Amino acid sequence: MLSKKAQSMTPSVTLGISTKVKEMKAEGIEVTNLSIGEPDFYTPKNAKNAAEVAINNNKTKYDAAPGLLDLRKAISKKLMVENNLMYAADEIVVSSGAKHAITNALIALVDPGQEVIIPKPYWVSYPEMVKLTGGVPVFVDTKKSNNFKLTREELEAVITDQTKMLFITNPSNPTGAVYTKEELEPIVELCIEKNIFILADEIYEKICYLDEFTSIASISDAAKEITITINGFSKSAAMTGWRLGYTATTKALAKAISGIQGHLVSHPCTIAQWAAVEVLNSCEQDMQKMVTAYKSRRDEAAALINEIPGLSLIQPDGAFYLFVDMSSIKEHLHYEDSFSLEVCAKLLEEHKLAVVPGIAFGNDDFIRLSYAADIDEIKTGIEKIKNFVMSLSL
Ligand SMILES: Cc1ncc(COP(=O)(O)O)c(C=O)c1O
Repeated sequence: MLSKKAQSMTPSVTLGISTKVKEMKAEGIEVTNLSIGEPDFYTPKNAKNAAEVAINNNKTKYDAAPGLLDLRKAISKKLMVENNLMYAADEIVVSSGAKHAITNALIALVDPGQEVIIPKPYWVSYPEMVKLTGGVPVFVDTKKSNNFKLTREELEAVITDQTKMLFITNPSNPTGAVYTKEELEPIVELCIEKNIFILADEIYEKICYLDEFTSIASISDAAKEITITINGFSKSAAMTGWRLGYTATTKALAKAISGIQGHLVSHPCTIAQWAAVEVLNSCEQDMQKMVTAYKSRRDEAAALINEIPGLSLIQPDGAFYLFVDMSSIKEHLHYEDSFSLEVCAKLLEEHKLAVVPGIAFGNDDFIRLSYAADIDEIKTGIEKIKNFVMSLSL
């Protein structure tokens, strides 16, 4: 009955974990949850007020397919001031979350059978999005010694005449690694040479602990031509449920994306868009407070992980995740298919700690912890990991 596309979908590991956590909580079991990829903060007050005003002023009708002009103008200003990127309002399309923005871009650019290169480890939804939209995901291994950041040589080895697009997540989910300008330049040059589009997923751009963040499209005019900049409000403004993301592209591509979006969903929720205008106009301080909190949790959590014998992590310079190498306990653990699934099952069942197995991101030696949680919960969770590791090596 189901289409081949539907049958090709891999069930979401992260959704499976949250269902299990809910079941355990419903049974009265206390679970430490470090599996969630969502800010533990609330949406800034001014944004919520703006949504209320929009409702009360009946700004509840259909509007422009690419999103409210006021919002696109505000995004255009943000990209110029913060990212040194000049995009006009008609080069921006606001969508229902970054997920939707990425899907729109894939539909607009990738023909059936064309290849999309996805560096490992990757964000869980990329392969499924590529398959759903008719493309072929091509995975490329990266090295732990390079914090799992792609190099030009690694990319060159997987390019074929069918390659249409490369995904770069910066800062990365699941690793938290951030590319410097110098690391991005050779990759971008190769993509320009080979006519390959870059989907630059910069949804965590504001949650960056380095002094400088380089937006891929800002590297050169030629880079901007081939880059689809993806960003949104879910992570930076704690607005996951409002469902707002956007693409910034060339005018021609924006027109195509807007046309696709117009037929599929018309546009994202108008009320949410008015809230986002306010985020860009007056909520910078709220967002910076969140980043400061994430940074101090990152420092504490990373130090605690590093104290556990045998464990190591990827240098987390952005986002709110720790990607922890558990391979040193492999020989002490019996597992059938997936090591990281077994680690996470044991942590959940025996220690009541929810974290995400690395296999969900294409790397089975690791687990991912989120520090978008209260610091006490983070400390409790890491103590549980320590107890688990110690119990195995006794
Ligand atoms: C790398 C990355 N891109 C995109 C998204 C999706 O963001 P949104 O909730 O705005 O669709 C996420 C959410 O977890 C993410 O981690």
